[in-house]
Amino acid sequence: MRIFSGIQPTGAKHLGNYAGGFRQYVATQDLAAREGGEAFFCIVDLHSVSVEYDPADLRERTFDLLALLVATGLDPERSTIFVQSHVTAHAEANWLLATVTSFGELRRMTQFKDKAEAQEFVSAALFTYPVLQAGDILLYQTDLVPVGVDQRQHIELTRDIAERFNARYGETFTIPRGVYPETGARIQDLQEPERKMSTTGGTEQGTVYLLDPPDAIRRKLKTAVTDSGREIVHREDKPGISNLIEIMTVATGESIPEVEARFAGQGYGAFKEQVAEAVIALLEPIQARFREIRSDPGELRRLLSVGAEKARAASAPTIEAMYERMGFVRPS
Ligand code: TYM
Repeated sequence: MRIFSGIQPTGAKHLGNYAGGFRQYVATQDLAAREGGEAFFCIVDLHSVSVEYDPADLRERTFDLLALLVATGLDPERSTIFVQSHVTAHAEANWLLATVTSFGELRRMTQFKDKAEAQEFVSAALFTYPVLQAGDILLYQTDLVPVGVDQRQHIELTRDIAERFNARYGETFTIPRGVYPETGARIQDLQEPERKMSTTGGTEQGTVYLLDPPDAIRRKLKTAVTDSGREIVHREDKPGISNLIEIMTVATGESIPEVEARFAGQGYGAFKEQVAEAVIALLEPIQARFREIRSDPGELRRLLSVGAEKARAASAPTIEAMYERMGFVRPS
């Protein structure tokens, strides 16, 4: 069994990334270990340059993200953690797969439409971004892709691209499947609960960053928008409270009914305080580990070269098969 997921280095990582990303990476790393499989986690720096960014910031954030992946529980001995641009097969796969992806398919991607609206300069890279993502996944003969539901459309497109390539050139790729968490698959902005928590599209006050100090977390949760009424129940007409309940499940591992039962009859104010304390309890040990790991750039560099080596070896047979089947003359 092969697990693969990717996460962008730019932008401060938030609770939504933890819920749909980090938390699931660790769970699937354990799953791969039990099944005798392999897990790959990719810092997708090539994706991050598809919108405006600062080069110095990209460099720092790449190391930050590596440290955060380890601090949240990934084990570089058991999993392959690597930087996308260190494995050139990703850029190559992007080009080859673009030939079996249609303009119409890419034009329908909602993330492209949303992100394009927020950009002054809409790059061609932003448009073809899902092809690069498909290559990331397919290069590793991936079975499972742990992600949040915002990535569902990209995963579906990846499956279509893989099926089309297989039909045209012969069986080359495993058809991957997305894995979405039962709760917290889409954490919403605390200030605008109809929007997803996000570094680019959300509000500053409504976004809890994984490296926020306890006071900031308390302040953000205290001012979280709630709904009319006073019941702590997870219901479609209560997006604010439902979101806080989901955040609680992510922080404590409880189910939605367990959280509802524990806070039945209590007011919104007390509930928000408790959610803040649960989030702080979740993040404090992660932050401590992060600071320790981040302070050793030599070790981080070493981890990246080990990861790149393993990822190159794992992806090489697939990129080679792609070239072969597409009729390219390979260097001897
Ligand atoms: P990225 O970097 O935006 O997000 C990383 C992970 O966090 C999840 N996520 C959320 N989950 C729940 N609630 C939210 N509010 C929330 N916001 C983000 C995302 O679903 C993701 O799992 N295109 C991808 C990166 C990528 C990738 C890949 C992922 C590139 N190649 C191959 C999987 C496989 C992205 O921008 O994720």
